[in-house]
Amino acid sequence: MTPSLFTIILLIILNVSIATGATPSPEISGGGQWQLIHDNIGIVGMHMQLLHNDRVIIYDRTNFGYSNLSLPNGRCRINLRERFKTDCTAHSVEYDVASNTVRPLFLQTDVWCSSGAVNPNGTLIQTGGSGAGEFSIRSINPCPTCDWHEFNHGLAARRWYATTHILPDGRQIIIGGRKEFNYEFYPKKQRAEKITYRLPFLEQTNNKGVENNLYPFVFLNVDGHLFIFANNRAILFDYNNNVVVKTYPSIPGQDPRSFPSTGSAVLLPLRNLQNPSVEAEVLICGGAPKGSYQLSLHGKFMRALNTCARLKITDPNPSWIMETMPFGRVMSDMILLPNGNVLLINGAASGAAGWNIGRNPILHPFLYKPNHVINSRFQLQNPSGIPRMYHSTAILLRDGRVLVAGSNPHEYYNFSNVLFPTELRLETFSPSYLEPQFNDIRPIMVYPAPQSQTRLRYAQILKIQFQVKGTLAIDSVSVTMLAPSFNTHSFSMNQRLLVLDHVKTTNNVYAGQLTSTSTCQVEVAIPCSSNLAPPGYYLLFVVHQEVPSEGIWIQLL
Ligand SMILES: *[C@@H]1O[C@H](CO)[C@@H](O)[C@H](O)[C@H]1NC(C)=O
Ligand SMILES: *[C@@H]1O[C@H](CO)[C@@H](O)[C@H](O)[C@H]1NC(C)=O
Ligand SMILES: *[C@@H]1O[C@H](CO)[C@@H](O)[C@H](O)[C@H]1NC(C)=O
Repeated sequence: MTPSLFTIILLIILNVSIATGATPSPEISGGGQWQLIHDNIGIVGMHMQLLHNDRVIIYDRTNFGYSNLSLPNGRCRINLRERFKTDCTAHSVEYDVASNTVRPLFLQTDVWCSSGAVNPNGTLIQTGGSGAGEFSIRSINPCPTCDWHEFNHGLAARRWYATTHILPDGRQIIIGGRKEFNYEFYPKKQRAEKITYRLPFLEQTNNKGVENNLYPFVFLNVDGHLFIFANNRAILFDYNNNVVVKTYPSIPGQDPRSFPSTGSAVLLPLRNLQNPSVEAEVLICGGAPKGSYQLSLHGKFMRALNTCARLKITDPNPSWIMETMPFGRVMSDMILLPNGNVLLINGAASGAAGWNIGRNPILHPFLYKPNHVINSRFQLQNPSGIPRMYHSTAILLRDGRVLVAGSNPHEYYNFSNVLFPTELRLETFSPSYLEPQFNDIRPIMVYPAPQSQTRLRYAQILKIQFQVKGTLAIDSVSVTMLAPSFNTHSFSMNQRLLVLDHVKTTNNVYAGQLTSTSTCQVEVAIPCSSNLAPPGYYLLFVVHQEVPSEGIWIQLL
């Protein structure tokens, strides 16, 4: 792959800054491989969610023209209130990872800039959108012939650019949206309940005319409260009693990190889960500086923020620790990898989020290693050849690859004559742990059987058996549990990685029976509380020397 001019310039800048010591040095090893896996899925991957049948539900928007994929059986969508009154193309697909094929799905109302989460039984619940879809709830079950069900008056408020999070009791909370300084639950306690609850924090973080409070970053803290971040501020929120439990300091520097100054955020891996005081940390990276959005509307594209801010949200008196990325990025996604590292991928080096206002695509992902010492956590990865601008997405697959889709930085499906054409190609980024040189240390799951979709109870002890072809370093084995996320607008809702506590490790359980390969057994403690791990489907990985096995699906109930 030929590096773009921009890439070359970046590398020159990086080398200069390393030479002058101006920025912390990323280990410029390059790493990971890109693969173009599908040259046309017909629609834009604006929203993506992996389900436990290894199929990815993808959708974009219903009211901005014809996609490149026809609906089956001559089916059309008729909506006389919209500009494209008869539309016989799909705006949602199911992508099957195993066969690398797509199946068109039917949506009636507009799902643009909406949110979602998977409920404990594995059904994707999608909430809101725009126009006729702003009060809608839609669901889709994981099955080879399933399609969307729409409930047109399911929501109590318009939810456009809202965030959804799964709760410890399996319900979902839907927070904010344009001009909505409130939240609501799904399902409602009573069928007819039409209640929203005020959240003044969203009003306080709303810069009039720019907003900067949309798609708030929401994480379930280990104490059962919600960490909510918007603009450059954060609170800990008791959603049951509608009380702000704690106001965190704002990120130093006053620059906004939420849409349209779109940075990204992750809850870092949770570990030592049997400790009565589990610690939780949030990492927020990139975004666009104050004023960038307005300037970009006038054709001036400011450089994106090159800082990350990390906060121990369980600390009684925490403060943000600032870190510097190899370079600035806006509209990037932050993906938790099975080994606990974080991948920053997609996005641009200048401008802001919105139609046509991002510039200088960033083709290189960064790997962030949370446990390395500060200033040596970032590692530059190999570049893709495809810009992934506004409305691009990324999610982790069960096999450890990261699926990358989308990019439609302007209105309508313009495939040519525009700076960044509408992008229908799917790629995967394979982190370096997938390289063949690690085959000897890669764990292979033996038990639970990979296809078993084992159901687990809270606090149970789970026996796991795995093999490695080469030498096993027994002290470098960990077992992780990852909640697949709903990704849109650079935020992965419900993304969560738990490092399970080992209760017992036995090497070579079957010594003597198996000749060339030894089987190792670890017993791990499944979290005891749904505050740590809300109920639902997770991917379970065995990680050996930072190299993960393929994931297996488990259901925690
Ligand atoms: C998709 O794009 C191809 C290539 O431009 C074109 O031939 C085809 O007709 C398009 N299909 C639809 C349904 O738009
Ligand atoms: C899962 O729950 C939803 C409602 O919460 C329901 O609509 C759906 O049919 C259920 N799916 C299965 C597979 O039970
Ligand atoms: C994009 O597509 C729309 C709708 O087809 C059209 O009106 C507009 O001129 C196109 N823009 C460009 C730059 O081609």
